[in-house]
Amino acid sequence: MARRKIVAGNWKMNMTPSEAVKLAEELKPLVASEEVDVVYCVPAIDIIPVVEAVKGTNVAVGAENMYFEEKGAYTGEISAAMLVDAGVKYVIIGHSERRDYFKEDDALLNKKVKKAFEAGLTPILCCGESLELREMGVTMDWIRFQIKSDLVGITADQVKTMVIAYEPIWAIGTGKTATTEQAQEVCKGIRECIAEMYDAATAEAVRIQYGGSVNAGTAADLFSQPDIDGGLVGGASLKAEFGQIVNYK
Ligand code: PGA
Repeated sequence: MARRKIVAGNWKMNMTPSEAVKLAEELKPLVASEEVDVVYCVPAIDIIPVVEAVKGTNVAVGAENMYFEEKGAYTGEISAAMLVDAGVKYVIIGHSERRDYFKEDDALLNKKVKKAFEAGLTPILCCGESLELREMGVTMDWIRFQIKSDLVGITADQVKTMVIAYEPIWAIGTGKTATTEQAQEVCKGIRECIAEMYDAATAEAVRIQYGGSVNAGTAADLFSQPDIDGGLVGGASLKAEFGQIVNYK
């Protein structure tokens, strides 16, 4: 069975609640699609108004982060149950900005992935190498380590429903998209890793996105690769261009 493409915007720390509603309204006619799953991953404070703004459309709302504990004394954190209650369907886990700036390690991310599934959220698990690691020739070893450690204890049935985003750090926000060949090679490697960890059916089902400076000009080539099932889009998700990326064909 062919995997359905999924294009997710990662708004990062952009858009106040009123700006977020305005953007969601503007994008509405542009991101309409029968073929592609569309997600806006938005700042926590924008979740409630954006869920309201996209009601009745093909757009699902995602969070950019969450905490793994059920509830309690974790000042400033947001739980999976809070996200679900607010109407969130997806959650980005382990974005390189969280890993680098906020020192989130794979043991923590594994707990977050587990909690997301437990709560009924679909994780968009990010992985990706730095330029230094790529130049050392250890890209795939690094990615395999991330995937394996972030998925400890996660079942095949869960993996089948999740999304993995391959985002080379050197391509994020730099305007330097990975070549189609580079992106396909790593996404294929991730699928092979899942096949080894689980089985062929799980590898066939899991959706793998590419992210890193995706734009209207590169989306079609990237998303038509056999192992790339869509994209995680930062900068270009904040403008009308996102509609062209969703309707990349
Ligand atoms: P970018 O960000 O598209 O602006 O490179 C992608 C991401 O960080 O998810």
